[in-house]
Amino acid sequence: MPSDRRAVSTLRVTCMRFGQKVHPLNFDYGNSLFVLGDSAHLAGNSFRLQIRCEEITGCCTRLSFDNANVADKRQYSDAIIEACREGRSISPALDEGVCFQTRSSTIVIGPARLHIRMATGAVLETTEDGIGINGEQFLLNFRMGGASGFYGFGERTRRLNKHGDSLDFWNVDVVAAFPHTYDRDDYDPAYVAIPFAIIKTGTVYTGVYFDNPDRAIIDIGKIRSGQWLYQSMGGNTQVYLINGPRLRDVVRGFTELTGRAEVPPVWSIGYHQCRWGYRSEADFIALKEHFKRHDIPVSALWYDIDYMDGYRLFTWDREDFPDPAVLNNELKEAGIRTVTIMDPGVKLERGYPVYDSGKAEDVFCKAVSGKEYVGRVWPGDTVFPDFTLEAARDWWAAWLAKFLSENAVDGVWLDMNDPATGFSAAEDMRFANGQLPHAKYHNQYAHYMAKASREAFAKLDPRARPFLLTRSGCTGTQRYSAIWTGDNASNWKHLRMAIPSTLNLGLSGVVFNGPDVGGFMGHTTAELLIRWYQAGFLFPFFRNHSVWNSKSQEPWQFNPQCLAYVRETVVTRYRLLPYLYQCFFVHYLSGDPVLRPLLYDYDGKEFEDLDDQFLVGDSIMVAPILEGEEQGREIMVGGRKCQVRHIVLPPGWWFDLNQGEWLEGNRILQYAAGLEEVPLFVRDGSIIPYYNGPIRNSFITLQEIELHIFSKQRPARLAYFIDDRETRDYQAGRYGTAQIDARVDDGEINVGITEAGDYETGTVNFRPVLYGYQGQWKAVTAVNGKLQTRSCTVQTRSWVCKHLSVLA
Ligand code: GLC
Repeated sequence: MPSDRRAVSTLRVTCMRFGQKVHPLNFDYGNSLFVLGDSAHLAGNSFRLQIRCEEITGCCTRLSFDNANVADKRQYSDAIIEACREGRSISPALDEGVCFQTRSSTIVIGPARLHIRMATGAVLETTEDGIGINGEQFLLNFRMGGASGFYGFGERTRRLNKHGDSLDFWNVDVVAAFPHTYDRDDYDPAYVAIPFAIIKTGTVYTGVYFDNPDRAIIDIGKIRSGQWLYQSMGGNTQVYLINGPRLRDVVRGFTELTGRAEVPPVWSIGYHQCRWGYRSEADFIALKEHFKRHDIPVSALWYDIDYMDGYRLFTWDREDFPDPAVLNNELKEAGIRTVTIMDPGVKLERGYPVYDSGKAEDVFCKAVSGKEYVGRVWPGDTVFPDFTLEAARDWWAAWLAKFLSENAVDGVWLDMNDPATGFSAAEDMRFANGQLPHAKYHNQYAHYMAKASREAFAKLDPRARPFLLTRSGCTGTQRYSAIWTGDNASNWKHLRMAIPSTLNLGLSGVVFNGPDVGGFMGHTTAELLIRWYQAGFLFPFFRNHSVWNSKSQEPWQFNPQCLAYVRETVVTRYRLLPYLYQCFFVHYLSGDPVLRPLLYDYDGKEFEDLDDQFLVGDSIMVAPILEGEEQGREIMVGGRKCQVRHIVLPPGWWFDLNQGEWLEGNRILQYAAGLEEVPLFVRDGSIIPYYNGPIRNSFITLQEIELHIFSKQRPARLAYFIDDRETRDYQAGRYGTAQIDARVDDGEINVGITEAGDYETGTVNFRPVLYGYQGQWKAVTAVNGKLQTRSCTVQTRSWVCKHLSVLA
């Protein structure tokens, strides 16, 4: 039996409904403060709180709040990478309170308040009743102090800027937790809890990460205007303060602490096709044929739960899939990889080898009674591996590795790991052989499942790049897996919501993410499907997925026009794979997300809430059409129906890839786009690596690269990373960089390419292509000092239904 106090804290989590908070007046506040050794000690009538300060990096400080009421003082969070777990302890000074000074912040603690001044000048200050304790619960109550933007927070619905919003940090199976999510875009929480706040005050950003895996709430002016607060329901919290001033400084600093996504295998950043309902070998062969016949590239086909025998993990329904390895190898020969779904729930059935071996090795979670915790998911009664135990991870990794290699499967899709437990309350699931209450690992269940699954790939080949996708996760899960944003719906609201949701996830470190394109629940229409593909074709993760009882939504299911427009988006994605690959490489090296809100680069007020257009890497801006079917502003232009939208064109010059012309920025456009058009713009001074060769599913070599140069007033530059694209050797520094500089002068393009680093020079063949100019041009290219001169001819390049004249 657990200690009483722990049981109470678990119970409290169960009883609180989402959206409910603990009233700040229920907390006790400090009335005395003193220093002992390297810590400040704050005491109230019902508590004693020890506060320590450490410098973690030059831009990050950690404040540890240790509440004596907390029964179990261990830190269970796996958010912070090993290298950043130890900091340099800072001794306090006494100066109008207790003062800690680090390179990036000055922290002053008074009996019930906290005052933080970051090196950027940004101030975070609590109210007079700013530090509160209620049993195990902990409260920090900040003044808004002119902060106007709040970003990050993991996976969320609603808008990008969370000012005025209230957020719950407790992973849920959204459709089970909230009724009518099909019609709503305001439910909270969702599947991925990351209590990371990026705060914008004036033009300065500061990051605050609350490291505590227990349930938490962040309310930003909703219950008390002029204040924002953090509440944790149990356990101790460590607060990481990350210095700006720019948004990118904060995001880079946060990913330095919590880790970055590895560079993915190239096939995994292609196009994916999935549906809950593909149920036999014949379905998969038919899909392969359809993609070929309709001339649409596809890099992977996905097996949802119907491939299994009675939903038993690590099995196949042999009637429908007589020889999965043969099937998967046949698909692979056509350049199509395969991914299988894996739920954590193991069917409780004696004689089923997976259950029997798990039981024998004692790897399943326990109930308070000490018996295996039983939930009810697809296979009926199920037990759940306790992925927090090394032995359970080893057990899982062994089964998974065997399954992947025996069946020639390339990737895994981790689902229902919020964890979804059916009618059986998840809160009764305990960890560490029943020793630990559910709350310690609830938000980390999927994270540890991803870690265990990642180990399976390492068993097969430690040098290879794994591909995993998970529904749930927490801070740091990007180290192991990509994330998709779960069960959305086929409607315009959910299309609109996908953008802020993926942007905030990216700012929270999870850059490899994306929604179910086309929408999961309900029936999509041709127009909606086209707009989903146009909005989503440059999302880091690009997969069409739908539920079994919805209308089929593969690209060919509607009409020839829909097929043609969708095909163009998918083909353009493949043309831009070298660009996307570079974005992932940049993320690995710096932490910058692949998809970024405009405020990543632009300061003005007009960008603070802007979340219906976005940047992909440094160069491309997408402003997708998010309304249709008689909603929004539809007009007729030359007999053709167009949708009009507002686009904020930031300062500088932008090349409009629909019109093929340069536009001066710093203004708002009213942009009319036909059904075939997605408003796409390239920033002046960009070089976009583009693949112009034949496309055959995932077979793409990235050895012949066109350098698409967009230079109006600014010279164009690009640092292009070159590695083997297959192994993880780049992590040991085995990659090169081609520094590319292009100048466009009267009638002449000068391109300088200088390669350096640990990779053979000349591996990639670059060829310049120029936009926005006409006539006869000379291209002078200097590759590692060797000059080549040729004259450019007019050719065309295509960008989602637009065939633009270029000089190549
Ligand atoms: C969950 C997943 C969904 C999947 C379904 C069946 O709802 O989120 O993507 O298709 O389960 O496995």
